[in-house]
Amino acid sequence: MARAYIDTIGMYVPPGVVTNQDLEKLMDTSNEWILERSGIQERHHVDGESTTEIGLKAAEAALAKAGMTADDVEYIIFSTIANDYLVPGGGAIMTKHLGIPGTPALDIRMACSGYLYGLQVAKALIESEAYNNILLITAEVQSVALDMTTAGRDTAVLFGDGAAATILKSTDEDRGVLTVVTHSDGRYAEDLMLRSPSTHDKPFLSYENVDKGHGRPVMNGRNVFKHAITKFPAVIMEALEAANIEKKDVKLVVPHQANLRITEAVAQRLELEPYKVVYSNIHKYGNTTSASIPIALYEAMAEGKVNRGDIVVVAAFGAGFTWGASVIRW
Ligand code: COA
Repeated sequence: MARAYIDTIGMYVPPGVVTNQDLEKLMDTSNEWILERSGIQERHHVDGESTTEIGLKAAEAALAKAGMTADDVEYIIFSTIANDYLVPGGGAIMTKHLGIPGTPALDIRMACSGYLYGLQVAKALIESEAYNNILLITAEVQSVALDMTTAGRDTAVLFGDGAAATILKSTDEDRGVLTVVTHSDGRYAEDLMLRSPSTHDKPFLSYENVDKGHGRPVMNGRNVFKHAITKFPAVIMEALEAANIEKKDVKLVVPHQANLRITEAVAQRLELEPYKVVYSNIHKYGNTTSASIPIALYEAMAEGKVNRGDIVVVAAFGAGFTWGASVIRW
């Protein structure tokens, strides 16, 4: 039976670094508050680059590392909540950037869980033997929508821009993406949302709604936190059970980098050792939404923490709410 495995990951973050001290100059916040509540020290913000443009940089890095050209790509999955345009989605635009017109491209907009949904679709397409490789691009430019004043401080300090590209390939070996489980619950849509433009409104986009701040993300941080720390461990255990793998055999957990306090709470609930078994690099990038897991995987690999044969678990929770986990035999 064909299995899907992660062959290569490439990443790109824009060069502009925004430290907590930089934010102190823009809004009523402090380095201490941000560090204590989230573990974030700095994040990267674009200066004019769009989501597909940073996605392209990550895709080029992944293709070069894999020794492939864009012409070798059979299928693109593009995950973001920050598309260049509402229509069309970024997937089709990537075929233009990569110079591969005609290549199928699917858009995923499952927020922080986008990587999990992308893995799930890639696994199904490869296991069904419809395709031999998939380029899963996760790219996020959140900074342009953030309110960088005191009014927006609860979200502005958390999010960063970044992109990753994961090349999945087919193998006959007993390795790769063993299971992916995903969930969603729209009852909590308003707990983390960007309200406008919206089909609730006529016109779809108005100065009035922009003036009300509806073009900015809003978040009920406490509710997100509360759900995240229960859903993360539950979905990780569900994915392990589905893969018939015991927790003790897990080499590394790479959670979506939402917040260090969430990561620590998950490690504690799963009785795993934070920093050793549960990977974190949020201090450098903040929350890069669907790009955060592959960026973290990329860095964990570079640090020698992920090696052939290891059992690696990735998991996410985010807007929607959406959540999921995957067990991978590297
Ligand atoms: N700097 C300083 N003060 C801030 C602030 C900031 N950047 N953002 C909010 N505050 C203030 C609040 O206004 C509030 O003030 P008040 O008590 O005078 O009303 C105070 O800090 C405490 O706010 P509270 O919401 O109780 O803080 P918290 O301990 O819940 O931490 C979060 C806030 C956002 C860090 C936390 O709720 C969280 O991590 N939630 C999950 C967020 C997340 O991960 N989202 C992405 C999911 S993919």
